[in-house]
Amino acid sequence: MTTRELLEFPFAPGTVIDGRLVVKEGVEVGGMGHVFCVWDREGERDCCLKTILPGLHPRFCPALDLCELMRRERVTAATLAVDNDFVPRIFQGGTIWVSAEVQGKWHELDLPYYSMERLQGTTFERIIRLQRQQRELLPWRTVVDLSLLCARAVQAVHRRGFIHRDIKPSNIFLHQREDGSRLVKLIDCGISARAGDKLLLGTGTARFGSPESFVPGNAANEAGDNYALALVVYELALWRGPFVAADLRGYACAHQFIAPAGIRQTPTAESAASRFRPDAPPELEDILLRALSKSPADRPSTDAILDALEGIRERLTREGVPPNAHHDRPPGHLALQPGETAIPHAWRRVSASLPAAP
Ligand SMILES: Nc1ncnc2c1ncn2[C@@H]1O[C@H](COP(=O)(O)OP(=O)(O)O)[C@@H](O)[C@H]1O
Ligand SMILES: [Mg+2]
Repeated sequence: MTTRELLEFPFAPGTVIDGRLVVKEGVEVGGMGHVFCVWDREGERDCCLKTILPGLHPRFCPALDLCELMRRERVTAATLAVDNDFVPRIFQGGTIWVSAEVQGKWHELDLPYYSMERLQGTTFERIIRLQRQQRELLPWRTVVDLSLLCARAVQAVHRRGFIHRDIKPSNIFLHQREDGSRLVKLIDCGISARAGDKLLLGTGTARFGSPESFVPGNAANEAGDNYALALVVYELALWRGPFVAADLRGYACAHQFIAPAGIRQTPTAESAASRFRPDAPPELEDILLRALSKSPADRPSTDAILDALEGIRERLTREGVPPNAHHDRPPGHLALQPGETAIPHAWRRVSASLPAAP
């Protein structure tokens, strides 16, 4: 399958879905799905619609039933969103019939979709990428504040008896409420499970997989999310995680058998090319290394991670380190401007040339 076929989407702006949702623009192409901005005529609001890439429909990829996965994602997301501000609100779901060109032929396809609250702000992935591009390190106060917001969202999911299982920067959204306050919402709960469920699918993303997630048949456990949370904090601090591998096997090996370096490690001749920060709060390094323990039983609970982060923030406040502008009032380069989308340019070109679905 060509990249063009994978990225192609048969909706033109103006297409009406289920007589109610009017397609406006693409927001992003993720690993498996398309996310669109649509206008909800009845709710009179912008919202986001998520559906699967036509080229990944089970008719072409029978090994993985993405239609079923998306249906489960909608049910889990809706369950999690009840009385819970830490995930997007879910509005409606269903099936869209489309004509799509896949593997050189046109097919009638039923694509599952759901619509949800359109979040305002940016993902942790974008924050980390921009920091890396600009070769700027986030100040410690910002690292700790962002980590706290994220840990609160993870805790909210765990308190409802769920394990997210795909915690990574692109699934962590720093959302700005209408009153200007900010919170993290976790998105993309496609492979989330109830705590204790036996897992059929392994880790969501190898780079953020806990050691046990590479072993078949393990049960969903908050320790797996906490491991991934620690990796996210590590990346916020250093722009990169403790392990760099070329493929799934490389990550499986690293997560299972290699001890992660601490973030304060003093640069040596070999490590000089890598970035460590000897000025990091020692308690932060301590909690990260414990959360990155190979054995789930050795990792701190989500509550303990949150307590540790609160403690570090209190100390920084006592010592007069001010809250940092990066997340309280982000500079222009961190926030999407009105009308701006994070969609890759290549995809934007393709979608612009597509006809409206009949
Ligand atoms: N409700 C939303 N509001 C705004 N942007 C969103 C929303 N949901 C997803 N996105 C954007 O779309 C991207 C892909 O969404 P995601 O659900 O993670 O799809 P995938 O399953 O393909 O990874 C996210 O990283 C985020 O940038
Ligand atoms: Mg995602």
